Amino acid sequence: MALQTIEWKNDQIKIIDQTKLPLKLEYLYIRDLKGLWQAIRELKVRGAPALGAAAGLGVYLGIKDSKAKSHAELKREIERIVKYLATSRPTAINLFWGLERMSGVVLKNKDKSPDFIKNELFKEARKIIAEDKIACRKIGLHGAKLFEDRDAVLTICNAGILATIDYGTALGVIYRACEEGKRIKVFACETRPLLQGARLTAWELKRKGIDVTLICDNMAAALMKQGRVKKVIAGADRIAANGDTANKIGTYSLAVLSHIHRIPFYIAAPLSTFDLSIKSGKEIPNEERPAYEVTGLFFKQPVAPKGVKVFNPAFDVTPQQLITAIITDAGIIKPAYKINIKKAFKNAHQ
Ligand code: MRU
Repeated sequence: MALQTIEWKNDQIKIIDQTKLPLKLEYLYIRDLKGLWQAIRELKVRGAPALGAAAGLGVYLGIKDSKAKSHAELKREIERIVKYLATSRPTAINLFWGLERMSGVVLKNKDKSPDFIKNELFKEARKIIAEDKIACRKIGLHGAKLFEDRDAVLTICNAGILATIDYGTALGVIYRACEEGKRIKVFACETRPLLQGARLTAWELKRKGIDVTLICDNMAAALMKQGRVKKVIAGADRIAANGDTANKIGTYSLAVLSHIHRIPFYIAAPLSTFDLSIKSGKEIPNEERPAYEVTGLFFKQPVAPKGVKVFNPAFDVTPQQLITAIITDAGIIKPAYKINIKKAFKNAHQ
């Protein structure tokens, strides 16, 4: 059965509850905004592109039963919804990009009735979903060209089906390479503290019949030294105008290791993950998450003394100098990033 991470079903938002994986494939129906906010905060739905879709469907969910009688009234309600959802998680730009697209619909339809606008908002949310499906496949198509038969690829976190609508960015590239008949061996970093690599990437790759080997995060350097990793590929939560890339904590160390071992280090992301309003990674807001995620093993078994001080940033920023190429739906972007990212956007919007 094909998976879809998030969709609109029975007048609700239907998501795969990712906190239940790999033990159970369980769907969760979300009926109200608070439920969506919590699902995002608790990583029941996660991954930058999936959060873009959650933003789109979330705004519609929040407004669909509105009794607003005028454009101004509806606009005020939507502003409130957008503000609220924007507080769920700070780093993945796709969330804010999705919210902005939904706000744009209201601004564009000043002279239209609330019912008409609601309908347009529904269409926009579904468009965000449809576009992601296409974008991920384009990323796969472009990125697969960089991979050869029998390549061994290291990845971190989950940038696959579960982080997007149904295909993936970094894992989308691997899926496409495999669809082309290339035999790819994947090493998945477990990705402490929340184990997206162990729980999600290993699960979805295995389900697809792809050769995956799970490693603890601190094993990557040894593996590279032994010459067993030919390429590294990761997703992104936000890419600045100069190419600096925020992604799951631990991505930066893999980039440093790749540099030392002369292994190509790729980022795969749709154009919706770029934030051209910021010059560099220094401006990317980083989420700090609760201590119990580090002191306990996936909320269950305690693995640290009670009350110990904890540092738990969810993301880090990989400087653009360490990135060999950024694989996007608009093609492969190579250094010099500042110039070439601009060019890619210009071409894409022509
Ligand atoms: O905290 P998460 O699980 O939402 O972090 C997700 C990542 O870091 C992904 O690599 C990123 O969002 C890209 S998903 C295609």
